[in-house]
Amino acid sequence: MKSFLTDVLSLKKINNGIYELLFFCPTEILKTFRPGQFAHIKIPQSDAMLLRRPFSIHGIDQTKNTVSIVYQEVGEGTRRFMEKKSRTLDVLMPLGNGFTMNNYKKILLVGGGIGIAPLHSVLQQSSACFDALLGYRGKEYVFDVDCFVERCRNVIITSDDGSIGQKGFTTDYLTDIGQYDAIFACGPRPMLQALQRKLDGRSIPAYASLEERMGCGMGGCAVCVCKIRSETDYTYKKVCTEGPVFDLKEVDF
Ligand SMILES: Cc1cc2nc3c(=O)[nH]c(=O)nc-3n(C[C@H](O)[C@H](O)[C@H](O)COP(=O)(O)OP(=O)(O)OC[C@H]3O[C@@H](n4cnc5c(N)ncnc54)[C@H](O)[C@@H]3O)c2cc1C
Ligand code: FES
Repeated sequence: MKSFLTDVLSLKKINNGIYELLFFCPTEILKTFRPGQFAHIKIPQSDAMLLRRPFSIHGIDQTKNTVSIVYQEVGEGTRRFMEKKSRTLDVLMPLGNGFTMNNYKKILLVGGGIGIAPLHSVLQQSSACFDALLGYRGKEYVFDVDCFVERCRNVIITSDDGSIGQKGFTTDYLTDIGQYDAIFACGPRPMLQALQRKLDGRSIPAYASLEERMGCGMGGCAVCVCKIRSETDYTYKKVCTEGPVFDLKEVDF
């Protein structure tokens, strides 16, 4: 993991409040990247906003030395990226553990909202066979559908309001889950909880990337801890250094 200053190469609006940010990244950093890892980015033009903001790495291009993140504008920090003068970024990456690929041949991806972003990097970096369940709030929040359709065997789209795909939640469409070697998921907490319930009693490995609030991003402040169960006990783990990807069955929501 390294911090570096870099220029914003492009910033495009993809949909309602959703943007794709592309920046240059040195080769030696890209070489160590694993899908599911994240970047911790200092808010441009703001000495008052000391805490960096965590964003999953959405994609990398090793030939052009670029990294993309897809983010949703939610507060002051994410709003600042849009400002014209915010053209230099202070980035720390790659952070966290990422998804363990384990030579899985058939993987089901379950993504909700902006949590679809890290699953895109899994698609990009693995030659496994994928199916995907992607859930959006509505059609004005959709992104990345074409990439998933192109790369996956089957894709089911759901939306809360039925404006695109099937009306409902991704977890309503989990069928035949026995046929996958693993499930990788990222999305809102209720989606992950529902997925955990659906998988109860099944032996299929399932991993979830948790997008908890973070402070330092480097194991120093314990802002990001989550409760992890073992068979007999539980422990607290730091999402920034021991995650963000955890065995879904062990997460105590
Ligand atoms: C591992 C990880 C990966 C993430 N990947 C993405 C991504 O790919 N795209 C995306 O849009 N968002 C992602 N998030 C959420 C993103 O970090 C927050 O939306 C962002 O920090 C909000 O900053 P803000 O200043 O605009 O919002 P504010 O609400 O003003 O932020 C205030 C404070 O809360 C923290 N905060 C608020 N929401 C979150 C959150 N969900 N997670 C962590 N800290 C938060 C901020 O860091 C800041 O310290 C990710 C979070 C984590 C932990
Ligand atoms: S964010 Fe500080 S320990 Fe995880």
